[in-house]
Amino acid sequence: MPISDTFSRPLRDLRISVTDRCNFRCRYCMPAEIFGDDYDYLPKEGILTLEEIAKLAGIFCGLGVEKLRLTGGEPLLRRGLPDLVSMLADIPGEHDIAMTTNGTILPRYAKKLMAAGLHRVTISLDAMDPQVFARMNGVGASPDRVIEGVDAALEYGLGVKINSVIQKGVNEDQILPLAALARDRGVTLRFIEFMDTGNTNGWKLDHVVPYTEMVQDLHQHFPLEPIDPNYLGETARRFRYKDFPDQEIGFITSVSRPFCSDCNRVRLSADGHIFTCLFASHGHDLKSALRDGASDTQMVDLIRRVWSARDDRYSELRSEIGGTHVKPEMSYIGG
Ligand code: GTP
Ligand code: 5AD
Ligand code: SF4
Ligand code: SF4
Repeated sequence: MPISDTFSRPLRDLRISVTDRCNFRCRYCMPAEIFGDDYDYLPKEGILTLEEIAKLAGIFCGLGVEKLRLTGGEPLLRRGLPDLVSMLADIPGEHDIAMTTNGTILPRYAKKLMAAGLHRVTISLDAMDPQVFARMNGVGASPDRVIEGVDAALEYGLGVKINSVIQKGVNEDQILPLAALARDRGVTLRFIEFMDTGNTNGWKLDHVVPYTEMVQDLHQHFPLEPIDPNYLGETARRFRYKDFPDQEIGFITSVSRPFCSDCNRVRLSADGHIFTCLFASHGHDLKSALRDGASDTQMVDLIRRVWSARDDRYSELRSEIGGTHVKPEMSYIGG
């Protein structure tokens, strides 16, 4: 029973945040001076159990969701994550099951996750230079730790993509070294334009490197040509290397070229609220309904009501909305 929103956009992609905690403090996501021990993280009892998450995911799949992405925070900090993957893999029908991670704990879990039914991982890595990366991740972690995660995922047969957020004056000079790493490993790399997520990362438009500049920069060293999207609503603009045509590279252009018109993503926070946009000022509480004993039909009705009323297109309206709009933190809502 597929459902669509006020712009006829279907619901296809469920992004599930399993924790709002992370072992990194990336400045553009969880700046250390704000996300310290005093930060108001979600209490354990307020977080959906793995069974509740799987139950909700099953309901979403019945409504047309085809892609489940585990995210956080750092999803591998959530105890029992491979068990959750198994439960998601048991949902009837064909579903892509992916996870977004910073990769540092992946060597310990890659084999188990693969066995549980995970298909692919997207690993975040913003720099190859140890000093630049240490500054960006806020905890002094080295790129080697993340690369070990990439290699563990490849070793056990998981699909792998790398995501890199590029910020002007911070890591533009890392574009080429990151591309070289991804080419060397034969994995797809996607450069993400720095976004104004949450309320703490001090975003300014002039900190964004528009994707056209990144393409120009890369093209001088590794000539590129554009390729068609894989599917409607894909976040990345895709290119391939002329000298290595099987190898793709993408750009997530949500600031310079928003892609809201085909956006089919819903986000489920760790405390069981759904958000119909990465920038939505409020969520809709599914956890209370579930814990109050709502039937599957009642849950379906609730989700259908929320999605049918959806008119979000924040990235297209960014310049009109201005700075007063309160947004959820990405570590809470999921990436
Ligand atoms: P594939 O399934 O591999 O195509 O991945 P994906 O398109 O789901 O991309 P991924 O989860 O790797 O997302 C990459 C990044 O794009 C996210 O971490 C966000 O930074 C950004 N992003 C993803 N979805 C949205 C969205 O709906 N809106 C905006 N503005 N940014 C998004
Ligand atoms: N702008 C762009 N991308 C971001 N991410 C987190 N915060 C931001 C932001 N402000 C990315 C991470 C990771 C994914 C979960 O989202 O780097 O790749
Ligand atoms: Fe953690 Fe990812 Fe946020 Fe960095 S971007 S602090 S790795 S959740
Ligand atoms: Fe979708 Fe909102 Fe992102 Fe636009 S800004 S693509 S509506 S999540």
